[in-house]
Amino acid sequence: MLVKSLFPGVAVITGAGGTGIGAAVARAFAIAGCERIAITDVNPQTLEQTEKAITAAHSNIKLFAHSGNIADDKFAESFISKVAKAFGRVDYAVNCAGVLGVPMRSGETTLEEFDRVNNINYRGCWLSSRAQLKQMLEQDPLPSHDPSRPAQRGAVVNIASQLGIVSRPNAPAYCASKSAIIGMTRADAIDYSKDGIRVNCVCPGVIETPLIMEKAEVREAITPAAQIAPMQRMGKPAEVADAALFLCSTQASFVQGHAMVVDGGYITV
Ligand SMILES: NC(=O)c1ccc[n+]([C@@H]2O[C@H](COP(=O)([O-])OP(=O)(O)OC[C@H]3O[C@@H](n4cnc5c(N)ncnc54)[C@H](O)[C@@H]3O)[C@@H](O)[C@H]2O)c1
Repeated sequence: MLVKSLFPGVAVITGAGGTGIGAAVARAFAIAGCERIAITDVNPQTLEQTEKAITAAHSNIKLFAHSGNIADDKFAESFISKVAKAFGRVDYAVNCAGVLGVPMRSGETTLEEFDRVNNINYRGCWLSSRAQLKQMLEQDPLPSHDPSRPAQRGAVVNIASQLGIVSRPNAPAYCASKSAIIGMTRADAIDYSKDGIRVNCVCPGVIETPLIMEKAEVREAITPAAQIAPMQRMGKPAEVADAALFLCSTQASFVQGHAMVVDGGYITV
């Protein structure tokens, strides 16, 4: 059988504005031949930047872009409803939206800051994936690229972090929010296996994105950590994107509830 693309369905990416991991995931889907892509970000300007870059490079792609806050339950639900209305279904959902948080130990962390980080990173990821899973349950599965494997009703990939597995100084709310994403991913993988839906997460190491590079104090605090990893460099957003696409594809048909670490070996030392 001639397979046109590993991604005949609809891709949805949160946190897709700008030049970070979400934008790289959206670009990677476009390069891999996915022709229906929906993107969202809280920042309309950077979202438009991603939209323009993809449509300029891939005139065949139908792109749906809609900005909003994924920590707002009404937005998270209405975004997925709009995608389903525009494209009929949601097959590959990659939840990338996230924030780093102000560097502080627990004793100095305010309740507001703890809630902000967790509302976006953990609760926002849950709200997004909950809306995606509900939509996936409504749709017929798509055939696998390999006819001997089961059809797939949908695949969710949550972006956690290596800091969901190990921790770093001054980041209790962030580290906990990413551990929570790993736990939630495993629980959803158990609950949705019977429906033909796979749920996995990617745990990136230190990746060269605006989250790390934009502010000098964050850059100076975090980039030296890249030297701890055996590969002794920062990762590229595209290297994380490729892992997310693998987990979305039917090539990963037996990968379920996995936390795939993409960190140049950081957590092995
Ligand atoms: N860069 C790294 O080293 C690294 C490492 C591990 C995990 N991560 C995770 O990867 C994901 C992507 O981060 P990145 O490094 O590409 O950073 P980034 O800042 O480039 O991307 C994050 C995006 O999320 C968006 N966003 C923030 N709050 C939002 C909200 N409430 N609603 C919707 N969108 C929102 C931002 O506008 C931004 O475009 C995050 O979840 C981050 O925690 C990053």
